[in-house]
Amino acid sequence: MPGLTFLPYFCLFGFFLEAGAYFNEEKLHPESIVQNPTVVIAIIARNAAHSLPYYLGAIERLDYPKDRISIWAATDHNIDNTTAVLREWLTVMQKYYHKIEWRPKEEPKSYPGEMGPKHWTNGRYEYVMKLKQVALNFAKKRWADYILYCDTDNILTNPKTLNLMIAENKSVIAPMLDSQSAYSNYWCGITPQGYYRRTAEYFPTKRRLRLGCFPVPMVHSAFLLDLRREAVKQLAFHPPHPDYSWPFDDIIVFSFSCRVSDVQMYVCNKERYGYLNVPAKPHQTVEDDRVNFIHLQLESMIDGPPMYPSQYVFMPPHHPDKMGFDEVYLINLRRRPDRRERILNSLYEQEIDVKVVDAVDGSALNSSDIKILGVDLLPGYYDPYSGRTLTKGEVGCFLSHYYIWKEIVDLQLDKALVFEDDVRFQGNFKRRLMRVMEEIELVELDWDLIYLGRKQVNPTKEEEVENVQNLVVADYSYWTLSYVISLQGALKLLNAEPLAKMLPVDEFLPIMYDKHPNEQYKKHFLNRNLQVYSTHPLLVFPCHYAGDPEWVSDTETSTLWDNDSVKTDWRGSHKTLKGSPYQSTTSRDEL
Ligand SMILES: *[C@@H]1O[C@H](CO)[C@@H](O)[C@H](O)[C@H]1NC(C)=O
Ligand SMILES: *[C@@H]1O[C@H](CO)[C@@H](O)[C@H](O)[C@H]1NC(C)=O
Ligand SMILES: *[C@@H]1O[C@H](CO)[C@@H](O)[C@H](O)[C@H]1NC(C)=O
Ligand SMILES: *[C@@H]1O[C@H](CO)[C@@H](O)[C@H](O)[C@H]1NC(C)=O
Repeated sequence: MPGLTFLPYFCLFGFFLEAGAYFNEEKLHPESIVQNPTVVIAIIARNAAHSLPYYLGAIERLDYPKDRISIWAATDHNIDNTTAVLREWLTVMQKYYHKIEWRPKEEPKSYPGEMGPKHWTNGRYEYVMKLKQVALNFAKKRWADYILYCDTDNILTNPKTLNLMIAENKSVIAPMLDSQSAYSNYWCGITPQGYYRRTAEYFPTKRRLRLGCFPVPMVHSAFLLDLRREAVKQLAFHPPHPDYSWPFDDIIVFSFSCRVSDVQMYVCNKERYGYLNVPAKPHQTVEDDRVNFIHLQLESMIDGPPMYPSQYVFMPPHHPDKMGFDEVYLINLRRRPDRRERILNSLYEQEIDVKVVDAVDGSALNSSDIKILGVDLLPGYYDPYSGRTLTKGEVGCFLSHYYIWKEIVDLQLDKALVFEDDVRFQGNFKRRLMRVMEEIELVELDWDLIYLGRKQVNPTKEEEVENVQNLVVADYSYWTLSYVISLQGALKLLNAEPLAKMLPVDEFLPIMYDKHPNEQYKKHFLNRNLQVYSTHPLLVFPCHYAGDPEWVSDTETSTLWDNDSVKTDWRGSHKTLKGSPYQSTTSRDEL
């Protein structure tokens, strides 16, 4: 009854009068907020058990009200655990999302005539087109404002992606996704036959040298359709347009549909939105796809933002091992727990078991500590680029490696692997390394040390090792990012008694295999018979190079070994710069 509610209002008004404010004013109710547009997210999963936890983690973290989102999810033709993982997630999430449509199909497990689960037969293309069409029909029927298609190996790490794409107010828009290669989810050019054409805009866009939302002839894998737009009503994935004569491929069919309906596709790279995995080749396996995905995941830990799995799905346990080595050492400075955590995660994802050894922190040593340890400078040693002598960081680094060699000898370990902590991995690192080691064993190669990551100083072609693929005889090299070392190798290094005539460890090794150009230094070491090889291509790389914004070196940014007051930094040294320091002079000499 209105009369009942009048009194409190009156009293309130009286109070305001007394307070002297709002004289003669009615209290206005502000308009309530407008709810977000409604969105359908279409999930079409096949053999994606390895990426699904990260994919679903990213979907559930989208910063968008879940009660304005419906999930349309289908899965079929699986030989892995995709159905169970997706079902588990949907079961938990159904209470949050507006509606969930679930279409699992257990049988058959493959398409007729396919070479393998990564092969796209016409039958598979057609089936996927139909699924995308069914999802579109579902969204239209429920008057959804938008539909977001996102493949299950596209990880939208930026939780604002959906909001940002909606804010662009386009009919078809894709967030540009990063990958571990040149691959992305857009084309800048298309041939008259409907195939991919590389144009001058592609790389500047991919590398974010130009930023914005750009009209392009193709977006795929992850994109948003604005279903409120008139022209979007005509778009279809299936059946293809009657005039369609381009390749029978779902992404090309849809791009053609946009073209004939005068709908422009856009790709946006104003921010980083996430990643997409480079798909395995038609003849490859689900395992190959998983390996690619792990590489993408490792790269995301370095260049960021990292991917996080959903808390609501089962993650198969990992079983780390030592890959046949007697020990795998990881050298980490205690005061760099960030690096430790990152590298340990990377190794865990690759199922590699390591022993962490605390690096000798050069910056914590003063010049008298260093002398007590028996360290003395190699007479006449100067950094070839800056002209300075050893830094404390370089002393710490040398000692860290030295103590590992000593442990290898003390424990009589046949072979060990050593990592520094600021490394990134070649894709499929573990399998590649194990294959090289197997082949080395088969041909009974006598070896002392094998670089997995280094900088080749001179751009020369190195001698290949017969009957071992991807192995060369190492020429003068810098860095000690990662190497395999044998008991015999460790013994030779210790027997050289290098502490009393120290130079940086990455100059010491080339002396020991007699490839160092400085004759004076070599005279101090008599038995320079270390047998050193390198994988080719390399399996390990530095995370960052000198001068990169993220670059921090603990070896070159410190004070001199014998003087606690003289600070140095990397700027004098070219060793840690990208590329070969001798490259420019060499090519000039060759002219
Ligand atoms: C498959 O996933 C389900 C649910 O996520 C889990 O309980 C099961 O252990 C998984 N099976 C395998 C073989 O990974
Ligand atoms: C979105 O774009 C349409 C034209 O394509 C325009 O009419 C409309 O005002 C735009 N909306 C906003 C919020 O900018
Ligand atoms: C060097 O550090 C040690 C402790 O590590 C300390 O005992 C010693 O006095 C220091 N020497 C100088 C010269 O600062
Ligand atoms: C350290 O270097 C500074 C600057 O070159 C010099 O003045 C000082 O005498 C040096 N100290 C020692 C102990 O050599």
